[in-house]
Amino acid sequence: MSTLITNIGELVTNAPVGDPGPGGPGEYPGEYPGEFTAITGAAVVIDGGRIAWTGAAGRAPAADDIVDARGRAVLPGYVDSHAHLVFAGERGAEFAARMAGQPYTAGGIASTVAATRAASDAILRAGLRRLADEMLRQGTTTLECKSGYGLTVRDEARSLMLAAEITPEVTFLGAHVVPPEYSRDPAGYLDLVCGKMLDACAPHARWIDVFCEEGAFGADEATAVLAAGRARGLLPRVHANQLGPGPGVRVAVQAGAASADHCTHLTSADVDLLASSGTVATLLPGVEFSCRQPYPDARRLLGAGVTVAIATDCNPGSCFTSSMALCVALAVREMGMTTQEAVWSATAGGAVALRRADVGHLGVGARADLVMLDAPSHTYLAYRPGVPLTAAVWREGRMAAARPEILAR
Ligand code: NIG
Ligand code: FE
Repeated sequence: MSTLITNIGELVTNAPVGDPGPGGPGEYPGEYPGEFTAITGAAVVIDGGRIAWTGAAGRAPAADDIVDARGRAVLPGYVDSHAHLVFAGERGAEFAARMAGQPYTAGGIASTVAATRAASDAILRAGLRRLADEMLRQGTTTLECKSGYGLTVRDEARSLMLAAEITPEVTFLGAHVVPPEYSRDPAGYLDLVCGKMLDACAPHARWIDVFCEEGAFGADEATAVLAAGRARGLLPRVHANQLGPGPGVRVAVQAGAASADHCTHLTSADVDLLASSGTVATLLPGVEFSCRQPYPDARRLLGAGVTVAIATDCNPGSCFTSSMALCVALAVREMGMTTQEAVWSATAGGAVALRRADVGHLGVGARADLVMLDAPSHTYLAYRPGVPLTAAVWREGRMAAARPEILAR
């Protein structure tokens, strides 16, 4: 069953340049996305859950089913490469206190840890699914999800098992903070994370992460966590340089991490390290918004040749948005990105940060993950901030969310 979506005002493809190879649908040879690329007056054909064809609408091949985009823009589904969705409770009062002048500290994490430990699997699953569904309806078709609010062997393992029900991009974050019961024995907690907890968690995760920050874990500790994870087959990524300058980016680059996330406070040496490595800088503008922190300068990173991704960091503490569109708008307005750069970073950049070649672009053979906007171009994501512009979402070729009232007009 093939579907032709035609009369697309702007089709953002980010397609790898060149011939995708002899592989048919489902046999994508694994090229990462290309640069931001868009076709106006376009069409796309989906077949077997994959992109089968893209090009000018007038040259589109026939298909079993036709969708008329009526001039709307179509983008690759967003790739949200950083989220913490397995938790119970909420911290609205903490947000209000911040807006009244209190600073954000890692200390608030402990209250979510207590609520998460006390919650049943059913409660955690319901909250996780609600957020994942909220993301999908806004156009996020790939998401990463971390543990980190359990911080016992049992609670970390069950957090990962729940996350694995909704995404393959599961990250073990036992090294989020030292939990209260280990406050007098942080070395003991580190041993637990790198030992029994990792044993129980590694089978359920693809990634290992560590919060490398004052008040969380230092450089040596973070390096030890990442090395232990690697020895168990997990790939590293790091929470780095969020609350102040520090060793996080250096630790990430030295560990060969796929991504250093936050990057709010960077020295020139950090920027140089990122530029000389394959480590993506994942910027989380919703966090700066929700913590009233200064925004990092994306231009500085892009100018140095760093690969930049944008993600939400959706979590109950530092940033409780699930909206990639908001993050794109903030990246454009507050971080100095062009609309094209921001959309690339929210799609292709997230894919590189997750080392995924099959998403974040619409090259032939890529997964047919698409978002249709109720707007003629990607620019509207920043031009009309805060407006719900998602008209329809396809995931692996199936329409996964739609607003019929928009599609009918
Ligand atoms: O990415 N930085 C550490 N962890 C989360 C926040 C967690 C929380 O405040 O609950 C983050 O911002
Ligand atoms: Fe985070």
